[in-house]
Amino acid sequence: MQRGPPGLAESSVDYNSQRAQRPVRPGSASRRSLDAELAGPLLLDGLPGKREGSHSRRRPSARDGGELQERAAQLLGVEQTLFVPTNTMANLICVMGHCRRRGSQLLLGQECHLHVYEQGGVAQIAGVHSHLLPDLPHGTLDLDELERVITRGLGNPYHPVCELVCLENTHSSSGGRVLPIDYLRQVHLLAQSHGARVHLDGARLMNAAVALRVPPARIVEHCDSVSFCLSKGLGAPVGALVGGPKDFIQEAWRLRKALGGGMRQAGVLAAAALVGLAEAEEELPRDHENARRFARGLQALASPHCSVDPAAVETNMVLVKVVGLPAADLCQRLQAVSPDEVAQTGHAVRVLLFPWTEQSVRAVWHRDVSTQDTELALRKWEFVLRQLGP
Ligand SMILES: Cc1ncc(COP(=O)(O)O)c(C=O)c1O
Repeated sequence: MQRGPPGLAESSVDYNSQRAQRPVRPGSASRRSLDAELAGPLLLDGLPGKREGSHSRRRPSARDGGELQERAAQLLGVEQTLFVPTNTMANLICVMGHCRRRGSQLLLGQECHLHVYEQGGVAQIAGVHSHLLPDLPHGTLDLDELERVITRGLGNPYHPVCELVCLENTHSSSGGRVLPIDYLRQVHLLAQSHGARVHLDGARLMNAAVALRVPPARIVEHCDSVSFCLSKGLGAPVGALVGGPKDFIQEAWRLRKALGGGMRQAGVLAAAALVGLAEAEEELPRDHENARRFARGLQALASPHCSVDPAAVETNMVLVKVVGLPAADLCQRLQAVSPDEVAQTGHAVRVLLFPWTEQSVRAVWHRDVSTQDTELALRKWEFVLRQLGP
């Protein structure tokens, strides 16, 4: 919670895209689970199916991340999963696991997180060459173009060989759009028929599953590996998962170790993540509803300074187009509180947003942004837009 100027009635909303990870705090159930884990002896994290530091044959427990990994594997419909510190590491491990040859080619959308926000790790660490394809408005790739690029390298020594296609679901830069299952099926068939595989950056896979009203396994079945973030909408303090076939996860374990992601007392983190996993289907629809509520409310303000398409709001994000002033200025105004605001609205609300582009902002909902917060945020936008005038 951000503090406004002293003495002012204080309400604060943070649904910032970049900061979304920071304010997601473990809920009370997660915290109780953490306490319970901390009260007992902490065991070491081990290989899936084998334990390091403890050679007992008892069932894997929350303490070593085993229960989380098993439950997540069932949920995702994969043979095994592996707990890793971040989704960035999960993506890198998957790319390294699929692209074994130096100079292998990875095909991916030009705005996807893996390419734009992960420091080119696939090039600097894995020696993988990325070929970028334009993202279509729904976060999909053009299938003809995809086929053209995949087949170009076949049997031609001048071109890199495409080993992997990476998709992102939900697709963040298009505003949390959900990839249609039939599209996933087509990409997978196309890749398979040319000897390539498909990795899904499923940082927000649960949001996609909830929006489509299908079990996440129905989405993952069209991919050869998946990454899955526990610390976004699911509210775990730390962590992500890599999912895939058993031999792929055995190799992922080795790669995680090489990247410095092997964690000993990971059970403490896994315990909190288990709660997030169990609560996801109940919690996420509320985030989606709040995002839709906000989009409809903003559209109803009919301001010349911003526009939003409620029909494009499929999950927990809203992309707002900003007109007539830089998005950064609008963000600043939404963060500032003033005596005028308190006098006119009775509240002092900080809405913390970064510009997404120079002319747009992206708002993201998570478990710490309630329906009441959403309403307060909307009233703050209304106040700021009114001050900007016609
Ligand atoms: C689509 C997507 N993939 C991967 C990541 C990286 O996740 P992490 O911050 O856990 O490394 C993010 C983070 O925002 C994301 O939005």
